Amino acid sequence: MPVLICGSIAYDTIMVFHGEFKTHILPDHIHVLNVAFVVPDMRREFGGTAGNIAYNLKLLGDDPLVMATVGEDFGPYKDRLDKLGINRTHVREISGAYMPQAFITTDLDANQITAFHPGAMASSYLNKVGDAKNVSFGIVAPDSRDGMLQHAAQFHDHKIPFIFDPGQALPVFNGDELRHFIELADYVAVNDYEARVLEERTGEPLSKLTDRVKAFFVTKGAEGSVIYADGQQITVPSVKENRRVDPTGCGDAYRSGMLYGIERGWSWERVGRLANTMGSLKIEHRGPQGHQPTREEIEARYSAAFDESLW
Ligand SMILES: Nc1ncnc2c1ncn2[C@@H]1O[C@H](COP(=O)(O)OP(=O)(O)OP(=O)(O)O)[C@@H](O)[C@H]1O
Ligand SMILES: [Mg+2]
Repeated sequence: MPVLICGSIAYDTIMVFHGEFKTHILPDHIHVLNVAFVVPDMRREFGGTAGNIAYNLKLLGDDPLVMATVGEDFGPYKDRLDKLGINRTHVREISGAYMPQAFITTDLDANQITAFHPGAMASSYLNKVGDAKNVSFGIVAPDSRDGMLQHAAQFHDHKIPFIFDPGQALPVFNGDELRHFIELADYVAVNDYEARVLEERTGEPLSKLTDRVKAFFVTKGAEGSVIYADGQQITVPSVKENRRVDPTGCGDAYRSGMLYGIERGWSWERVGRLANTMGSLKIEHRGPQGHQPTREEIEARYSAAFDESLW
């Protein structure tokens, strides 16, 4: 049965300024900030949390359902989803709105100035979990505030287990709301930093939060991940990457491994191993969906790292 991925479908436009921001932003003139940077390098990546997670699940051979709202400039992304064979029955176009999109300008010191336009994402609450049929499992990934609150409640009402993945949406929720999400969810996935924010906001230590779900996943970049489940703490080592190109989207790649393994009832360790493998394959390519390993290549990376076969 398919998994349902609630989140965003977005464009990321990345521009590189061949200089240093600091030579153009004068601290004593900051009250009249008016700067323009010429950016000879520009590229547009396909991104968004739901788009990225679905892309990775498709690499694993699954047929996920994506639930998201998109704008009138969806065209190129629509063509891509169709080419990849990713089901977009629950991708709703919002007329008069743009796609959610980030405009990121970086300089040679790797500083970033980002503008994010939520656009059609603000309407994601219009989609209802109940509209997707025969769903066995799901995820509430970063999306609009209302969309995330409603989709979590709907997963719970329909008795469909789901992962709560607050990510970059964390700042828009208060402690009570975050605690409520965790009560509704069966699993939580956060990175190291987000785990600390969760503790601060809810006023509860990690040891208490992890007891509220079946399994609580904390990713730690190059150090792999830790899974808190059944009163245990399982440390899963990372999978060595051959080159480190771009970490953007490693978190989403990781989540595809979670969805794939948990849905099949795998052991926590095996779930973490596959999730780490997906993160490691992702980091070797630019953009959140730049990697395209075959199932055989995923298997090869996994078995070389963990000395066991994957499928
Ligand atoms: N340098 C690395 N080497 C090997 N694996 C990595 C590396 N960085 C990330 N990963 C894998 O990807 C997973 C997720 O990465 P990370 O903890 O950085 O997520 P994140 O902070 O949510 O990332 P993002 O939000 O930028 O996608 C890690 O648990 C790990 O398995
Ligand atoms: Mg992340």
